[in-house]
Amino acid sequence: MANQLCIVLDFGGQYNQLIARRVRECGVYCEIKRYDTPIEELRALNPMGIIFTGGPNSVYDMTSPHISAEIFELGVPILGICYGCQLMAYTLGGTVESCEKSEYGKIEVSHSGDSVLFGDVPEKSIVWMSHTDFVSKLPGGFRVTAKSADCPCAAFEDPERKLYAVQFHPEVTHSQYGKEILRSFLMNVCQFSGDWVMDDFIENTVKKLREQIGDKKVILGLSGGVDSSVAAGLLSRAVGKQLTCVFVDQGLMRKDEGDFVEETFTKLFDMNFVRVNCKDKFLTALKGVTDPEQKRKIIGTEFYNVFWDKIREQGTDGFFAQGTIYPDRIESGKGNQAGHGSTAVIKTHHNMVKMPDDIKFAGTIEPLGDLFKDEVRKVGEMLGIPHDLVWRQPFPGPGLGVRIIGEITEEKIKVLQEADAVFRDEIRKSGIEDQLKQFFAVLPDVRTVGVMGDHRTYDHLIAIRAVTTDDFMTADWARIPYDVLARVSNRLCNEVEHVNRVVYDITSKPPGTVEWE
Ligand code: XMP
Repeated sequence: MANQLCIVLDFGGQYNQLIARRVRECGVYCEIKRYDTPIEELRALNPMGIIFTGGPNSVYDMTSPHISAEIFELGVPILGICYGCQLMAYTLGGTVESCEKSEYGKIEVSHSGDSVLFGDVPEKSIVWMSHTDFVSKLPGGFRVTAKSADCPCAAFEDPERKLYAVQFHPEVTHSQYGKEILRSFLMNVCQFSGDWVMDDFIENTVKKLREQIGDKKVILGLSGGVDSSVAAGLLSRAVGKQLTCVFVDQGLMRKDEGDFVEETFTKLFDMNFVRVNCKDKFLTALKGVTDPEQKRKIIGTEFYNVFWDKIREQGTDGFFAQGTIYPDRIESGKGNQAGHGSTAVIKTHHNMVKMPDDIKFAGTIEPLGDLFKDEVRKVGEMLGIPHDLVWRQPFPGPGLGVRIIGEITEEKIKVLQEADAVFRDEIRKSGIEDQLKQFFAVLPDVRTVGVMGDHRTYDHLIAIRAVTTDDFMTADWARIPYDVLARVSNRLCNEVEHVNRVVYDITSKPPGTVEWE
């Protein structure tokens, strides 16, 4: 049975994925579609609700995304947010003007008390506003349901036609009752039943995978990251030993990580697990190379050479599976702007790399293609994948290769693995792990003079890096308490051989990147 569907129509706003995730959190399946998706296509999808996202433009800007008034005749409830709200008013004959005073940030609004959208929300509450235009005259049939000091139409509606609009952003957490407002639209206006639940997802997906795969074989490239691990878990549940996971260990993972991945998948799941250890091959290829881009290129090329060779060896008469997730597939509605963040581009590079022409599978399977990251994690937990894998922080494809500055040698890998393990252990013990999005050690190509006991030392410097961020496109260095930093520094110099100095990286992104190379 297909799930009931809500469509998030993307007008280029920065929060479009957040809106979709909030909708899913309400137990409603939704998909993001570009604003210029033909009405016929939208109608054929048979949505029970549509949400217009915000966008960076003004409706009077000729190049800004517009929509045909036909959409309002589908009889499907629509909620317009920010730009989407102005567009609804404008398209139906209302007037939009520039604000005398733009509203940005947390703003108090009061609602009229008679809108189903606001349900039990208190009369006055804080919402997140970010706009320089506002709706100054409503189209016929609409009435105002909320206002702020500077915005006379903070929310309006035509309940008869089931058209609703809010100038603020209910999807961001700064809007105190934003979630309730979205939920009210979905449940009380659109009448969704909330049939998007992860238990059902697993059951339905396993069933679909069995039908699709039949008695054929499936091969999946396992990186040890969240997405490929959860894809492996699902496929294993569906077809057991018909699944072969290929895990290429290029020797650049964190301390003991390769063994942990192997142990997890061989013990926990029914599948064929093929581990290819090729550290030496990588070290040989990287010998004497110091340029970051060249290092990345070599690691990437070697990885795929090894991987595709293994795939050829395993045979290609079945299906090829990938851990692609929904955000990797969304086509942005930002017109001709690139529309993808660096993470997406990185994903394209590593997850959706082109298959060599001589390798031909019966088909490709992407069991997580409809899920957001948080949903993938939920599924992972339900499948019994260990917490450390499900909540693993992002780890770059080239692994520690981008954290060892200069030439990569076996000795340096060892020093960095040990240092990184100590740093991670100390962060975990200090109880601040959840506040950090990513933290790791870096081995710059620097030696410094130190003193240990009565001896002069000339040894490695370790840099530690910890960041907080929402999307990795920008990031701030984490304000780790001094006493934690002190313990980390102490342990690194005492416990890790060849380390005699520790520095903390206090660079935000921009101008720095998260990784050093
Ligand atoms: P930067 O260094 O670009 O990193 O600020 C942003 C995020 O992306 C991760 N990263 C990578 N992930 N392959 C990946 O899969 C890569 O080549 C790669 N380089 C950086 C980085 O760890 C951070 O989370």
